[in-house]
Amino acid sequence: MTRNPVKLIPADFSATPSLDSVPEVAVVAELGEQHVDAIGVLVTSDGTLPEGIDLDREAQSFAGFDAKPGTTLALPHASRPLIVLVGAGPTGELDLAGLRNAAAAFARATSRFGRIALRVPSIGSADAADAAQALAEGAILARYRYRELQRKPKDRPLERVELLLDGADRAAASAGAEHGVVTARAANISRDLANTPPGHLTATDIADVAVALGARFGFEVEVFDRQQLIDLGCGGLLGVNSGSAEEPRMVKLRYTPPGDSSGHVGLVGKGIMYDSGGISLKPSDPMHLLMKMDMGGAASVLAAFTALRALDATATVTGWLMCTDNMPSGSAYKLGDVLTARGGTTVEVKNTDAEGRLVMMDALALANEDGVDAIIDIATLTGAALMALGPSLAAVIGNDPTTIGLVKAAAAATDEPVWELPLERKYRKQLDSDVADLSNLGGPYAGATTAALFLAEFVGETPWAHLDIAGTMQSDADDAWRSKGATGYGARLLIDVARGFQPAK
Ligand code: BES
Ligand code: MN
Ligand code: ZN
Repeated sequence: MTRNPVKLIPADFSATPSLDSVPEVAVVAELGEQHVDAIGVLVTSDGTLPEGIDLDREAQSFAGFDAKPGTTLALPHASRPLIVLVGAGPTGELDLAGLRNAAAAFARATSRFGRIALRVPSIGSADAADAAQALAEGAILARYRYRELQRKPKDRPLERVELLLDGADRAAASAGAEHGVVTARAANISRDLANTPPGHLTATDIADVAVALGARFGFEVEVFDRQQLIDLGCGGLLGVNSGSAEEPRMVKLRYTPPGDSSGHVGLVGKGIMYDSGGISLKPSDPMHLLMKMDMGGAASVLAAFTALRALDATATVTGWLMCTDNMPSGSAYKLGDVLTARGGTTVEVKNTDAEGRLVMMDALALANEDGVDAIIDIATLTGAALMALGPSLAAVIGNDPTTIGLVKAAAAATDEPVWELPLERKYRKQLDSDVADLSNLGGPYAGATTAALFLAEFVGETPWAHLDIAGTMQSDADDAWRSKGATGYGARLLIDVARGFQPAK
C-alpha cells in the first residue's frame, strides 16, 4: 500500500487489525481444563438457580443483582478464576439476541482478562448451533476496540472464550461457534475500515485492502481506476470525485460458490471515504469526524465477502464498492452541474452534499445490467433516516416485498434491526429537474424516501431493497454487541441474506 509520507503513517499500519487478533472460541465439555481468568454463569430471573451457585436469590438481590439482561455480578473469593453471574432476564423471553447480549455483557464485565469462559445452564428452545453462534458473536463484538493508532492501548484483547452449553449437542454447538467467529470477524473488519481515519484510508487504499482480502478469503476483486470509470461512463462517481486530490475507485467483488449456484445477488455499498459536503460544505462541527464513516456501507459489503467461502455460501454474490471522498476545491463539482450516470440518465446537482445517491446510481445501473436476481444496497445515505429511526434501526426501502422480507428476516436473525419506510411514488416529482432527467435533491420532508426514489430510477425492474444506515453506522457508547464507534452494521445482515440467496419463484 502506498502511503502519503506527509501524514507519517506508521510503517506497520493495518486497515484491518482485527484480522490479526481473532479470539479463539471453544465449546467445551467441562470448564477448567485450560486456564481461564473468569467464569460467567448465565442466570435467568426466574426458575431454579443453576447448580454450583451458592448465593441464593435473596443474597443475590442483597448484592444488587436481579438477573436482568445486561447486568452482571462478580463474586470475589480467594481462589481463581473469578465467578461472574450474568443476568439473562425471564426464561421465557431469552432468545438468540438475549444470548448474544448476555455474552457481550459478560465479556465487557471481564474486560481486563484475555481468557474467559461462559456457562449457559439452558439454551431453552434455541438450536445449539444458533445459540453458540450468538454467544461467540456477543463476546467478540463486545470486546472490539479500534487500537491501531494507540501506542499503549488500555484494553486487553480477548484471546480465548470457552462456552459450556449444558445439555446441548456439542458438535452442533462447535460448528455454530465457528460460524460466529466468522461473522463477528467480518463485522470487526467493517468496523476497522470505518474507524480508520480518512487520511489513512483513501479510495485507493480500500481497493488495495479489497484485493488483499479477496486473495485471503476466496473472492475475485476487480479494481476500476479513473480512466476505466470514464470508459464505463460512471459520471456520478467521477463527478463526486472531481474536487478530490485522491483518485476514485470502483471495486467489483465476485464470490462464486463451488457447486451449483442457488441464485445471484448483487450488493452495492456507498464508499464515501470522507464526506465534507463538497461545495455545499457541512458546517464545522466536531461531530463531522463521523463522516469518515461515510464508507460504512462499502465496508460492510466488503466485510461480508470475507465470510462467504468459510460459511459455504451457495449463492453467487457480486459486490460494487463506490469509493471516493467528497471534497470542495477549485475542481469540485458545483451546484447546477449536470452529471451523466452509467446508462445515460442526466442528473442536475442541486446539493453536492447529496453525493451518496450520485455514486450509488452508477453501481445500481451496472448491477441491473449484470442481470442479478436481486439487488441489496447499503449506504449512510441521509440524516433523515437518523432523524426518523435513531441509532438503533436502519431504514429499509425497496420495490419488492420478497427482497425486503429477506432483509427483515436477516435483520431479526442478526439483531441488526430494520424498519421499513415507504417508496412513496407521490414524492417522485420532487426529483424533477428543469434542465436534466433528474435532480439529486428532494424536498424538506421524507428525505430517506426521496433518496430511495432517486436510487429506484437506476435499478430497473430488478427486485431491490435499500438499507439506509446513517443512524446505525456508529454508536456513541458501548451498548450490548455494539462497541463505541463504528458498529459494522450490515456485515452480519448481508452475510445472512447473501449466503443462501435464492430468487423468488
Ligand atoms: N453522509 C450523509 C448522511 C449522513 C448524515 C450520514 C448523518 C450519517 C450521519 C449524506 O451524504 C448527506 O450529507 N445527506 C444529506 C442529504 C441532503 C443534502 C439531501 C442530508 O441528509 O442532510
Ligand atoms: Mn453528503
Ligand atoms: Zn455522505
